[in-house]
Formats: sequence, C-alpha cells, structure tokens
Amino acid sequence: MAESMRGLKRSHRCTEVSAANIGQDVTVMGWVQKSRNKGGIIFVDLRDRSGILQIIFEENDCGAENFAKAEKLRSEFVIAVTGRVEARSGAANENLATGAIEVRAASLRILAESETPPFPIEEHSRTKEELRLKYRYLDLRRPDIQRNLILRSRIAILTRQFLADEGFLEIETPTLIKSTPEGARDYLVPSRVHPGSFYALPQSPQIFKQLLMCSGYDRYFQLARCYRDEDLRADRQPEFTQIDMELSFVDVDDVLDVNERLLYKLFKELLGVEIPQPIPRMTWQEAMDRFGSDKPDLRFGMELVNVSEVVRGCDFAVFQGALEKGGTVRGINAKGQAGMPRKKIDALVEHAKGYGAKGLAWLSIQADGSYKSSFAKFFTEEQLRALAEAMDGEPGDLLLFAADCNKVVWDVLGSLRLELANQLGLLKKDDFKFLWVTEFPLLEYSEEQGRFVAMHHPFTMPMEEDWHLIDSDPGAVRAKAYDIVLNGTELGGGSVRIHQNDIQEKMFEVLGFTPEQAQEQFGFLLTAFKYGVPPHAGLAYGLDRVAMLMAGCDSIREVIAFPKVKDASCLMCEAPSPVDEKQLVELGIEVSEGEAAQGADAQDE
Ligand code: AMO
Ligand code: AMP
Repeated sequence: MAESMRGLKRSHRCTEVSAANIGQDVTVMGWVQKSRNKGGIIFVDLRDRSGILQIIFEENDCGAENFAKAEKLRSEFVIAVTGRVEARSGAANENLATGAIEVRAASLRILAESETPPFPIEEHSRTKEELRLKYRYLDLRRPDIQRNLILRSRIAILTRQFLADEGFLEIETPTLIKSTPEGARDYLVPSRVHPGSFYALPQSPQIFKQLLMCSGYDRYFQLARCYRDEDLRADRQPEFTQIDMELSFVDVDDVLDVNERLLYKLFKELLGVEIPQPIPRMTWQEAMDRFGSDKPDLRFGMELVNVSEVVRGCDFAVFQGALEKGGTVRGINAKGQAGMPRKKIDALVEHAKGYGAKGLAWLSIQADGSYKSSFAKFFTEEQLRALAEAMDGEPGDLLLFAADCNKVVWDVLGSLRLELANQLGLLKKDDFKFLWVTEFPLLEYSEEQGRFVAMHHPFTMPMEEDWHLIDSDPGAVRAKAYDIVLNGTELGGGSVRIHQNDIQEKMFEVLGFTPEQAQEQFGFLLTAFKYGVPPHAGLAYGLDRVAMLMAGCDSIREVIAFPKVKDASCLMCEAPSPVDEKQLVELGIEVSEGEAAQGADAQDE
C-alpha cells in the first residue's frame, strides 16, 4: 500500500547530504536503485536526480515495523527515509559523491511500489534504443540522460539571461501559420472552421521575426519550436527547438559578435572551456576547396589538394575524362596509412561510392619510396612522383583520389576525410573547434526542379559586389549568409536580410515566382516592407544540436526528453495515429481506403 506524504518534508536531495551533515537528521526521498539484505542489516542505494545516497536499515534503529517494510523494498520503489547522517562504516566509495557517508534510517515510508522495470535503470545502458524509447519515462530516470536534460535546461536559461542583458526581447510567434514552402515539407493542420483549408506548423519563425523588426522591436529572440517534414538523421528531428534571434540596424559583424560572446559564455560557464574570441572565419569557397564541406571539422587536417593540373594530359582515362568534362581531380593524404590492408581500402572505395563516386583511385608510398597504385599502369614513375609530391606524400602515406565534377569530388573526399578520421580515432569530443563559414552562394541549381533555389532562404541579402551577376551568372552571386560550425556540425545559420523591395522582387523572379505567386505567398511581408523596414539580420541555432555537442552525445535524441524515431513516430505514445471518423467528418477530410489500411498497418508494426 502506498503511503502518503502527510507530515513529511524533504530536507535534502540525495547528494546535497554531505560530511558537513554528520550527526544531523535528514529526510530524503527518491527511488530505490538497489537493495541488499545482508541479514539483520539492509543497504539501500537511494536515487534522485542529483545522484545516489546509501541508506542503512537496522532493526535496532528503525524498529520492527520499518525493518519489515525495508525487507520488502525492490528496485524503483519510491520511498521517504528519515535518519541520521553518519560517516561510512565500511570503506568509502570513491565513485559516489556521497561515498564517505550514509544515512542510518529511523523511519521509512513506501510512497509507491514499482513493478520490475523492463530494463535496468542504470548509466551507460546497453538496452536497445527502441525499448528505452517505448518506456522513455523510465529511460529518463537514468543518470546520463538526466545530466543531458539538466545541461540543456542550463543552456536555455543562460541564453535567456545573456540575451536579455544584451537588450533582446523574448517574443512568441504563432505556430499555426500559413503554408509557405521554405526548404523542407510543411506539417499541415486542417481547419475545422474553414473546411479544406490548412494551417502549417512553422519551419522557423523567419517571416514573423522579420515583421517584428519592421514593427520596431529591434532585438528579438525566442526559443522556438520548429517543424520540418524531412528525412530524419542523428542530428535531425521533425520537431526541434531553435534559439532564434533577429537584430535591426546591423550588418554581418554585429550578429557574429554578439553570438561569439553568447557561445563564449555558454562554454565557459557550463563546461569551463574557453573558446577563441573572435571565432575564426572561412568563406564557403575556401571551406569547400580545403575540406570538401560547408561544415568542416577542424579537429584534424587531411585537407583536400587539387591535383588537376598535375595529372592533366595523363593516360589514365578516369582522370583525363573528368578533366575534359570540366571536372577536377583532388586527393587527400592519409598520413601513415600506406600499410592499410586491401580489404580496408576496398571498404573506403565502397564508402566513396555511397557518396556518388564512380570509384576511388589510390597511391601508397612504401617505406623504400616505391609506389603501389590502382592506376600505376597508366602513370610513369616520374608522374607518380610528381603526384606524390603535390600531395606532400612521404614514405608510409596513403593517397586517395577522386575525379569527377566539383560537387561529387567535394562530397566524396569531404566524407572520406571524416570516415578516416573516425577510423583513426582523431575525433575527440572534448576538443571544440568553432568556425564561421561565410559568403555562401545565394542560389544553388536544383536538377530536380530545373531552376535555381535559395541556398539559405529567399530573404537573404546578396553581396553588393556580386549583384550585377544576377542575370548573367546567378550561381556566382554570393550572399551575406553565415553558418556557425562546431566540429563538423552546423550548429546554426543566418543572414542579413533583403530590406529593399526591388531586390526582393528580383530574387523572387530568379527563383521562378511570378509576381502573382510571390504576392499570394509572401504578400503580407512585401506589403509590410512598404511601410518603413529597417536593415536587419539574424541567426538561429538548433538548441538540440548545441546541447548534443556540449553533452558529448552522438544523437540529438539523447538531449530531447521525448524524441521521435526515424519514421517520425513516437514509440511511447504511438503518434501519429488514425483518428475517429467523427473527427474527420468535422474537418471535412476523407481518407482513401488504401491510406487508411496503410496507417493501420504502420500502427500494428
Ligand atoms: P536553418 O534552416 O539553417 O535556418 O536552421 C537553423 C538551425 O536549426 C537547426 N535545425 C535542426 N535541428 C534539428 N532537427 C532539424 N530537423 C533541424 N533543422 C534545422 C540547425 C540549423 O543550423 N530561419 C533560419 C535562420 C535565420 O536565417 O535566422 C533557419 O531556420 O542547427
Ligand atoms: P577502372 O579503370 O574503372 O578499373 O578504374 C581504375 C581505378 O580508378 C580503380 O581504382 C577505380 O576505383 C578508380 N576510379 C574509377 N573511377 C574513379 C573516379 N571517378 N575517381 C577516382 N578514381 C576512380
């Protein structure tokens, strides 16, 4: 029978009790981590969100009735104990914050019993993630997840304090909005009052924060819920949280400056890590050329080298063919890896193919200076030497080459670089390498849509010096856009916004909108901008990603209380789910039979 809290008050969390309390009476409450009956003496590890405290029950101290209750304790029972703090009778446990003390129980209440949990509640759980997520409320009791959520809370609170001190206002923007296709697919919400019409859940507060600038709230921020119907990965969820901000009367440097100070404060106060001020900057072009990625991981080198000019004119059809088509040949130097077994090299080739490569050419420099290579028969010794030299190759090195159009070569070598670093153990989680990537292209060509699309979003300001190219060479126009990158992850991104109607109209034209379509989708923004809009710029972080990297986790699921899985469902509450026919009728929605059956199948899985 569960007992009540009547007359009881918790005096400490478990690890708030310390040697300073020896001789005092305390009342602690929490979950039984473990209970061991050593015959006449019962040891209980009591757990709450602060940690673990050892309790000792002996009949002489707590009386027969309490001792009988203590004998019944099982894992995850919720109890309240009053007792005296003592120095540990046995050897101190150095693994516990409270390892030098224990509480000798005088009374015990069982506040709730527990069934045997489906998996043990312990740090570094080896339980399958599916099971942990089905019983997430139990998983959330585990100390490592609790630490993550506590860290996340501290990030949010510190961010709020910092931005408030900097003169930012926290303003909420709506989450039932008009569908305006941004990057990803929208989540739609049907309207009952307007049958056949839908709200969209925001992919970000972008348009509303720009309108707030128009309204004079010159520094805004929000911890904003965002929704994107896109394929999930370790660093992507269908709903996630942004630290979103917008500033008026500013240019790029002002935004970067305030954010460098925010990041400095977070890392200093929460991890004791001092990040460099200012954070280094690199243009997008340089990032691609040197690292094959717009979010380079700077914890290690292994930079890309363009060897197109070294190999031009060679007899190797793979290289020559790529060059003739206007592509490039680039390589990376895996230092000291010449001895890599063929099987492992073959696995790298397969990895490269996964990123669009048609193959991967390799050249290894033996200890005696001779060469082994997948393309040796097409190259003279002299050509091999020139190539090795261009790559700074030394005996013991393995050189890997990709030949294709720029985009494929960057993708392939960029990912290979990370794969190798991972295999070689070069990625230290407590080494934080920040980078601003700037001057992104304004537009990128979408083969799928047969037109240019905005690389960041349609409101991003082009760089003035490139604007004259907008008709002749739109792909060459750079934008006043920037990303903040940490250890190869894009933490956040933003831009200076267009505040001139003529530039905005031209942007819509280049993006393939007719004036009517632009008006229909973004009319309220365009109209607002006719009434005096200040120059403005902003940025948004993925809070989940910030927390993931600060906590040293590999997935944002580890820092989200109730995350979704790959197919965007929640294993615990089983959302999404079919709804009552009555609800559908009210909304004027008919689900076709095939889809209803599919939905039901997915539920049964
Ligand atoms: P952007 O689309 O780059 O910019 O998003 C900003 C940051 O949000 C995080 N993020 C995500 N996190 C988890 N799951 C997702 N599915 C997901 N998608 C994005 C990333 C990303 O860097 N309105 C602009 C910002 C601006 O221009 O001010 C925007 O949303 O960390
Ligand atoms: P092949 O002549 O197709 O047998 O290829 C010879 C070597 O070139 C093999 O090691 C292939 O993996 C490699 N290779 C093929 N295509 C490419 C490419 N696009 N870039 C780099 N290497 C390639």
